[in-house]
Amino acid sequence: MLAINFLSGNANKAEEIRMLGKREGIEVRWIEYEKLEIQSDDPAAIAKNSALTAFEKYRMPLIVEDTGLFIEALKGFPGAYASYVYSTIGLAGILKMLEGAESRRAYFKTSFCYADGSVVKSFDGKVNGTIATEIRRGLGRSFGYDPIFIPEGQTKTFSEMSVEEKNRYSHRAMAFESFASFFKAMHGAQDRQST
Ligand code: IMP
Repeated sequence: MLAINFLSGNANKAEEIRMLGKREGIEVRWIEYEKLEIQSDDPAAIAKNSALTAFEKYRMPLIVEDTGLFIEALKGFPGAYASYVYSTIGLAGILKMLEGAESRRAYFKTSFCYADGSVVKSFDGKVNGTIATEIRRGLGRSFGYDPIFIPEGQTKTFSEMSVEEKNRYSHRAMAFESFASFFKAMHGAQDRQST
């Protein structure tokens, strides 16, 4: 079975990606690692820099991921600063800022970066949706902005869904699938070369 190292300090991401890996026939090995984040408004630039820094330390094929939440009425805020905003004003603060807003449209963008010493490649995923009018955690897990994000075409917030259900629509699933296609093709090509 193919395997990839996923470096992240976030157990929720690791859980989602482990299940996505299972779906794609890739074993995801989570290594707890607080990624170094450059200051940028682009998750792809942050993930790429973090992957290169992590590779310098671990010297093995790996993926690193960065996610941003972009809210239309707030001109893309909090974007790639989502982590800082979550730990300061939090979900209640975002809901307050959106009181009376004409649009509640938003999207999540995730970027994975793969690095193995010779190849460095990015994979993006995006999901459009809306910000709920209240915090809705359901019975399930409460990961970051999940309790206030409703993906397009659905009525439940991500938090009210199981991980399997979230993985059907999520930004992270889309980005991981695109990585998985590349990774499997790369290993298929290497296997053909060595036979
Ligand atoms: P980072 O990618 O680790 O920098 O995460 C940015 C912020 O967005 C953190 O506060 C995370 O908790 C949050 N976040 C990342 N991915 C998701 C997601 O899939 N759903 C909800 N919140 C998320």
